[in-house]
Amino acid sequence: MLEVRIYRGEDQEAVVALWWDSWHSIRSGLRHPLPLSEWRRRWADEIVPAQAIVVAEDEGAVVGFAAADIAVSVLTQIFVVPCHQRRGIGRELLAWAKRSMPGGFSLRTLADNLTARAFYDHHGLVAGDACISEVNGMETIEYCWVPLPAHDAAAGTALVTPHGWRGPPGGRASSETAAC
Ligand SMILES: CC(C)(COP(=O)(O)OP(=O)(O)OC[C@H]1O[C@@H](n2cnc3c(N)ncnc32)[C@H](O)[C@@H]1OP(=O)(O)O)[C@@H](O)C(=O)NCCC(=O)NCCS
Repeated sequence: MLEVRIYRGEDQEAVVALWWDSWHSIRSGLRHPLPLSEWRRRWADEIVPAQAIVVAEDEGAVVGFAAADIAVSVLTQIFVVPCHQRRGIGRELLAWAKRSMPGGFSLRTLADNLTARAFYDHHGLVAGDACISEVNGMETIEYCWVPLPAHDAAAGTALVTPHGWRGPPGGRASSETAAC
């Protein structure tokens, strides 16, 4: 049975391997400019100390994870093991992000990551500006999620989000925070 739980130190190797494999599964031929050792360092030194992290566990195996920089309302990572994709795990991880950042959040994804973009569209996120990632040097698109006001949600009315949205009050642009 699938469980979304808080990340623990002993998950590190499984999560970094999952992160690397899932990122490289985005499309064939994709190659990250940084080596796996640098991903490991970034995970341990930058993400774990500063971000909220959950893992999706199924039958004792870590099959997905998400990380969020709550202070600036940015979902920095959301990854599912390739062979477990399209089974609702990403939906559970995104639901955690929405609960953790109820005022809204942003994220960035590769512009040619059509699967993730379809996933975000399906879950009501809105595409915004394009920019070049400072982590991998590739073109990325910013997405944002803004909660519906209660009366609009009841009526099922979509909220129109301004292009170039920069996060909820007090948040920073996600381009200042390392992302997927
Ligand atoms: C993007 C990702 C996290 C989605 O997780 P997932 O567990 O596969 O997604 P879900 O099964 O919860 O999908 C929920 C809905 O999103 C949409 N969706 C998901 N994958 C899709 C695809 N390949 N094509 C079209 N729609 C898709 C569908 O509407 C789906 O609902 P349905 O299966 O009932 O039709 C996952 O595909 C992934 O890890 N991809 C590789 C890494 C990545 O791109 N991460 C994001 C970096 S910013």
